[in-house]
Amino acid sequence: MCIACDTKLNPESLDEFGDRFIRILNHGALAVMISIGHRTGLFIAMRKTGPATSRQIAAEAKLNERYVREWLGAMTCGGIANCDESGSVFTLVPAAAEMLGGGNGAESLAYLAQYVAMMGFIEDKVIDCFHRGGGVPYSEFPRFHEVMAVDSKQTVVDPLFEHLLPLVPGLTMALDNGIEVLDVGCGRGKALLKMAAEFPQSRFTGFDLSVEATREAAKEAEALGLVNVKFEVRDLSDFHKTAPIAAFDFITAFDAIHDQARPDHVLAGIRRALKPGGVFLMQDIGASSNVAENKDHAIGTLLYGLSCTHCMTVSLAQGGLGVGAMWGEQLTRDFLKDAGFRRIDRHTLSHDIQNYYYIVKP
Ligand SMILES: C[S@@+](CC[C@H](N)C(=O)[O-])C[C@H]1O[C@@H](n2cnc3c(N)ncnc32)[C@H](O)[C@@H]1O
Repeated sequence: MCIACDTKLNPESLDEFGDRFIRILNHGALAVMISIGHRTGLFIAMRKTGPATSRQIAAEAKLNERYVREWLGAMTCGGIANCDESGSVFTLVPAAAEMLGGGNGAESLAYLAQYVAMMGFIEDKVIDCFHRGGGVPYSEFPRFHEVMAVDSKQTVVDPLFEHLLPLVPGLTMALDNGIEVLDVGCGRGKALLKMAAEFPQSRFTGFDLSVEATREAAKEAEALGLVNVKFEVRDLSDFHKTAPIAAFDFITAFDAIHDQARPDHVLAGIRRALKPGGVFLMQDIGASSNVAENKDHAIGTLLYGLSCTHCMTVSLAQGGLGVGAMWGEQLTRDFLKDAGFRRIDRHTLSHDIQNYYYIVKP
């Protein structure tokens, strides 16, 4: 019997799958509409107005009422908002107001839905790659660094002092006294900027391929009056040959190794750039390298999807390895060992369901 026909392996009936497929379509549409709500400020407007008509909500958000009314329809059917019997007065359901509207002082998580919207935006170009191979370059993702900087604020920047730096015993004191720090694939450099402000005795360097991201980072450093941080445009694909030798005490890479063109070369460069006694802190996607072990991953589908439409394809576009976001712990450890690292401790942190934190030493 063909495996696919063996109903014992997959007991879901056609009807059940049909129902699930309908939920999939509804949730896909809802994610894109949540992204629109986030970008237009509609969740915040609805929290301000309380129960209100589409006209009042549109006025508060300074948006076109007809579009707002249609959006409210999607929010209501998707269980994000309630409406009265007449279908004209709308309120966010309390949990959604808190999680998507930044209620009770919490950060809004609605920004995450932008990743789903970006997948649709890039679909045509990714389909081309399914046919001809290759990849879609960073330049085709105009809003990537902007969204990434918000993401990085939640997983890296805000918990940096309380949760991330304490993973390395003695690090905070060393930063206080003054050390050399490098952030690889720094993007808009939010983590470095925060450390540079907190530890004026230390010196901070950020390398990234993106002209736009490093320019924004440098602009912010200047605005903050920071003189101990610098950002350089660097293609790290040959970092194994170009990395300065034994130049840094502490090197970080936040969600930046898997989408490099050559993660192997970057890691070898990091090994070369570490001073004796130095430490590498690497945040990367938490997963197994075996897809069968990722079946129950809380956000596995989302991460494979994002990898296919972003992380993997931007690496392949540079002629790179395209290991993908879900390259997993086993492969990560193999790459680290091949780069010359022997001591690899992996941590999970409660604020971040997406990533592992590796503390790595030669
Ligand atoms: C997922 S982003 C992470 C950015 C940043 N660390 C953060 O957490 O916001 C990955 C970064 O790797 C950079 N990158 C990709 N390929 C690169 C290469 N060949 N050389 C240098 N940087 C590269 C990208 O420009 C991007 O900023």
